[in-house]
Order: sequence, then C-alpha cells, then structure tokens
Amino acid sequence: MSVVALVPAAGRGERLGFGIPKALVPVDGVPLLVRAVRGLLAAGCVRHVVVAAPPTDLDTVTAALAEVGAAADVVAGGAERTDSVRLALEFALRTFPDTRVVLVHDAARAFTPPEVVRAVVDAVLGGSPAVIPVLPVADTIKQVDADGVVIATPDRSALRVVQTPQGFDADVLRRAHVTCDGPATDDAGLVERLGVPVSTVAGHPNAMKITTRFDLAVAEAILSRGVG
Ligand code: CTP
Ligand code: MG
Repeated sequence: MSVVALVPAAGRGERLGFGIPKALVPVDGVPLLVRAVRGLLAAGCVRHVVVAAPPTDLDTVTAALAEVGAAADVVAGGAERTDSVRLALEFALRTFPDTRVVLVHDAARAFTPPEVVRAVVDAVLGGSPAVIPVLPVADTIKQVDADGVVIATPDRSALRVVQTPQGFDADVLRRAHVTCDGPATDDAGLVERLGVPVSTVAGHPNAMKITTRFDLAVAEAILSRGVG
C-alpha cells in the first residue's frame, strides 16, 4: 500500500517575522521544512513526499531539499493552506495513482517524532478513514461572544489539541477537497463535513507547531537536549 505525505510549506511565516517563508527558517542550520521531510521519511512507511512551496520560492525550496538528499517533489502552493494541500494532493494522485494513504503534515511541525507518523499510518491501514494525532488540553478553555464576554466553559476533558500528520484514506481526502466549500484550519475538518468519522491517536509535545519566536526558541531547546 503506497503512503504519500503532503507537506504544506507555502505560508509566509508572518508571525515568525523573519521576512522569509517559515519553511526555510533554519534551526541549528537546518531549515524547518528539511527537518519535517526527514522526519516523515525516517518513519520508514512513507514512500513519496510532495511539498507545496511558496510559488516565488520553488527553486530555493527544491535546492534546500536536494542539498540534504531529502527526496521530495515540490509544487507551487496556494493562497490558503487548504489550497496548498489541494494542489499537492492533485499532483500526488496524478503522479502516484496507486496511493492508498495520504498524510498531510505541516512543515512548521518540524520536530514530530517518527513514531507519531507510524501510529497515524498504522491506524489508517487498520481501517480508519481519517486519523489525527491529539493531546489533552492543559488550559481551561472559555467560549466568548463578540465583546469578549464569556458564554460558556466547555468540559476540558472532552477537548483535544490537534497536531499533524493527519492521515486519510486517499479517496476520502480527495472527496473532502473536491467538495470543499471554504477553507478549513485542518484537513480533518473538511473530512468531518463529509460525515466521515475521524479517529485519534496519541500525539507528542515535540510535534508542536512553530508559529512564534517563542516556539522557535522552544524548538532550539528541544534540539539542544537531543530529544528533537
Ligand atoms: N501553509 C501553506 N500554504 C498557505 C498557508 C500556510 O502551505 N497558503 C502552510 C505553512 O507553510 C505551514 C502550515 O501551512 O507549514 C501551517 O500554517 P502556519 O503555521 O499558519 O504558517 P504560515 O502561514 O507560514 O505562518 P503565518 O500564518 O504566521 O504567516
Ligand atoms: Mg498561516
């Protein structure tokens, strides 16, 4: 069964604020995207990786991956993350028609341990059409109205923080993107709109999304302690 990983990496990294796409920001000399792709390949179950890169940086991204021998195809991403995933998915299904399982993994989750990748793939191969890695919520969560006034306190024990890679039966993800009627913050959100059940596996704190400079500092600390 062929497993293909799509890596949306076409964001601008505005909140990080380095003036370059976040995927190209180095941690200890190695760009986040390269770390993310290496992590996927290290899982040992991913056959192909397709990266959606900023359209203005296709050559730079291709060169960064080639330099470290990280085998991946690079396509131009879109305006929203959902567009980038759709474009990478179209390429993958056209180029690797025997694809049965598709992972979608943020370049920004560059320190995701390979065992999380394997757990997601195993769950899809085990028959779950959609699988996401999750963690419990540590903070109390409040729902507020437009004025910031608290409306409700959802039961925290029933809430989860969602990570990537998210794994899908290839046809389910294709249908989710074909019928997509607006951007979603993750691919499982699109699959939920189809009425397809989404299962969970245990995520990992190192699979945190690097969004801010604080997150980058945490990632550097993870790496320097040899647990990245
Ligand atoms: N992404 C993408 N295409 C877009 C927007 C985002 O492929 N049009 C990717 C990012 O490269 C990242 C992942 O989706 O790997 C999650 O997005 P986010 O963390 O928001 O990254 P950026 O959009 O780059 O950051 P910012 O929102 O701060 O600009
Ligand atoms: Mg963004």
